[in-house]
Amino acid sequence: MTNTAQSPDQTPAAKVLPDAQTVTEVRHWTDRLFSFRVTRPQSLRFRSGEFVMIGLLGDNGKPLLRAYSIASPSWDEALEFYSIKVPDGPLTSKLQHIKEGDQIILRPKPVGTLVVDALLPGKRLWFLATGTGIAPFASLMRDPEVYEKYEQVIMMHTCRTADELAYGQQLVEALREDPLIGELVEGKLLYYPTTTREESPRMGRITDNLASGKVFEDLGLPKMNAEEDRAMVCGSLDFNVDVKAVLESYGLNEGANSDPKEYVVEKAFVGDGI
Ligand code: FAD
Ligand code: A2P
Repeated sequence: MTNTAQSPDQTPAAKVLPDAQTVTEVRHWTDRLFSFRVTRPQSLRFRSGEFVMIGLLGDNGKPLLRAYSIASPSWDEALEFYSIKVPDGPLTSKLQHIKEGDQIILRPKPVGTLVVDALLPGKRLWFLATGTGIAPFASLMRDPEVYEKYEQVIMMHTCRTADELAYGQQLVEALREDPLIGELVEGKLLYYPTTTREESPRMGRITDNLASGKVFEDLGLPKMNAEEDRAMVCGSLDFNVDVKAVLESYGLNEGANSDPKEYVVEKAFVGDGI
């Protein structure tokens, strides 16, 4: 890694590190989770909720890239990412040590299904995430378009322990206090964080709280239905499969960019590495 912060296509370092962006901020949330911000290529346009490939140079001198959801909204001048630290993970065992001024590789080709355009219009939009699956919703929750299109936005985030909820918790607090978007989210953004392996004010798996109807009761919402409710899902493969079954039991169908319906799904990571 190099600390060269000049324009990537003008420096010799750019030949070694193509598509280089400079790290502007790093924050460690737990020993397993951190977030960081990097400069945004001027030409990069993306829709809130999409992901890109980012990485570092591997020991063999070739780029070592992984898919990462952009956690910042499309209007933000910088790009934010929220990351796991996998102890022996090829990328994150190194990425977790980045500091302000370092460079990372970012391939500016955003894609993904967790976009507002992939859903039919509706009244309420549900964001359903476990772990780092909150990253695309960290982007969408900060996008005014979401609040223009939906009367209510419900963020359900579940982790094993309370400290793993901190990134989402602080983001929602900051959003509510934001002078620009705070008023827009007031009364519209309902945040429902739960833990499963540590006592906390709210507990239980997303699947259980949806299937039992507890979350509707707690938030004073009607039972989920295909006419009014839309959902976006991002978690492990097992989580996604189980949530899909619950959503389908309420009559929602899976959509895509090319075929908008009532819910969309994306993997937060691939089990065997990618
Ligand atoms: P890998 O070899 O990639 O993974 C090793 C093992 O670690 C995996 O088999 C899996 O069991 C576990 N693992 C990997 N990622 C995670 C994770 N996020 N949470 C829990 N366990 C994990 N990761 C992020 O941290 N933030 C993101 O925003 C993000 N967005 C993604 C979007 C998409 C569409 C996909 C497919 C993956 C995304 N990932 C994200 C996962 C990411 O691509 C890498 O897998 C991760 O950075 C670990 O890389 P690695 O090389 O260290 O280990
Ligand atoms: P649990 O503690 O009951 O397994 P992980 O850290 O394993 O990725 O899990 C993150 C969170 O997602 C945990 O709170 C976990 O609950 C929950 N979870 C894992 N698998 C599922 C699933 N298939 N359905 C619902 N929630 C799940």
